[in-house]
Amino acid sequence: MASIIFVTGNKNKVREAEVLLRRFGINITDVNLDIDEVQADDIEYIARHAAEDSYRILKKALIVEDSGLYISALNGFPGPYSSYVYRTLGINGILKLMDNVEERDAIFKAAVAYADEKIIKVFVGETKGKISFEPRGRGWGFDPIFIPDGSSKTFGEMSTDEKNVFSHRGKALLEFVKWFTAKSTIHS
Ligand code: IMP
Repeated sequence: MASIIFVTGNKNKVREAEVLLRRFGINITDVNLDIDEVQADDIEYIARHAAEDSYRILKKALIVEDSGLYISALNGFPGPYSSYVYRTLGINGILKLMDNVEERDAIFKAAVAYADEKIIKVFVGETKGKISFEPRGRGWGFDPIFIPDGSSKTFGEMSTDEKNVFSHRGKALLEFVKWFTAKSTIHS
């Protein structure tokens, strides 16, 4: 079985990646490096830098992932600051900002960056959807208030498998895995 290191301290991200990559025969080992994230507006840039910094330390093929929720009525807020905003305002704070706002469009974006001794490559995934009027289901982060287009459920009401079909992370990981398996076949 092929394996890859996933550098993250977020066990929810690990579970989602594990479920998806296992189907392609790829095993994940998660490592929490606690490296400083560069401050930038662009998640692809953040992910690329994190992959570069992580590779410098581990010297093994790895992926990192950076993601964010972009709400149209809030001009794209919280975007790359999603993790900070989740910790400070939380779901209820976001719902409060959206009080009486009818336009609920939002996009979840994920950037998965792969690094090895030769290359750094970034894969992106985006999911359009709506911010619900109240939290529904469980999940983590903003899962209970995001309804992806094509479903009536929030991410919080979905199983991990189902969320992976719709989610920004699932899409970015799928792009990564297609490339990674093709690359592994060529080099084996
Ligand atoms: P980061 O990628 O660790 O910088 O954090 C992204 C933040 O966006 C997380 O802490 C969550 O608050 C939010 N987020 C990203 N992806 C998801 C998701 O799939 N479900 C719920 N919240 C998410």
